[in-house]
Amino acid sequence: MSSGARSHTAPPSPDRKPVSIPRLNEMKAAGEPIVMVTAYDYPSAQVAEEAGVDIVLVGDTAAMVVLGYPGTEPVSMDEMVMLGKAVRRGLQTPLMVGDMPMGSYESSNELAVQSAQRLVKETGCQVVKLEAGGTSVERARAIVNSGIPVMGHVGLTPQTATALGGYKTQGKTARDAIKVCEDALALQAVGCFAIVFEAVPAAVTEAIVGKLEVPVIGIGAGPATAGQVLVFHDLLGITTGRMAKFVKRYADVHDEMVRGVSRYVDEVRSRHFPEPDHVYGVEPAELDELRRYLDQESLTSQKAWDWEPLP
Ligand code: KIV
Repeated sequence: MSSGARSHTAPPSPDRKPVSIPRLNEMKAAGEPIVMVTAYDYPSAQVAEEAGVDIVLVGDTAAMVVLGYPGTEPVSMDEMVMLGKAVRRGLQTPLMVGDMPMGSYESSNELAVQSAQRLVKETGCQVVKLEAGGTSVERARAIVNSGIPVMGHVGLTPQTATALGGYKTQGKTARDAIKVCEDALALQAVGCFAIVFEAVPAAVTEAIVGKLEVPVIGIGAGPATAGQVLVFHDLLGITTGRMAKFVKRYADVHDEMVRGVSRYVDEVRSRHFPEPDHVYGVEPAELDELRRYLDQESLTSQKAWDWEPLP
């Protein structure tokens, strides 16, 4: 398909209403799993829409899987806004979450509220997500009080992974598990509508989730959560290399893309592309007229005569 052609997007089924926070609470209460995925651009948002996902997170994992940074720390608010705007254009139904990048909320409540408002106003996300407990709890409270719903994120929090000892499972000791629980309870207490648990032992998650009223969305946190989230590029096999234990690959898109581009490379080099189907036609009379024009002796000599080298 050329970039000029419109892509096909199956309309969401007519009985699929936009996903709201009360709807997520209903799903949790009914034991209906909540499906969340990340998206970072228009086509990935369209895929999430067509696949019937409930929540789309414009995650700061974009730093790594889209922008090629070594971690999530370097991604800027401007970059997140640009990606979020593209995602918005591809979504109708899922709840859209804007991830607050590192440095956009930690230092004060004012900064946190300003950053959350910028994400909502400029990208059209309905809610924001921030990481960790501790001072983030106060930032979450301030954002909630400003009228923007907040999703919390505990356990492995990549923005502060260095302080946690690296990308490691969290809550493996009773003390660490209590911290996960206390962070989650504190975030719930200040009004977070849902909380991501990342890289937490399944049994620890199972023990804690019953203490929380809000939906917990797990990534590497086992099956006891109200929902699951995976990174789009990981689940589709667009990312290559070593994956976290919790990633399940549902496709091998990277390999498929390399196969496709390699075939294109071969066909251009062997002159098998373009084929007759890929070229535009022209009326023979128009072509004759063009040739008569090009055949004029004066055309080439005049061009050569008029040409002057640039100073
Ligand atoms: O940024 C992100 O993609 C996330 C998910 C891993 C939950 O925070």
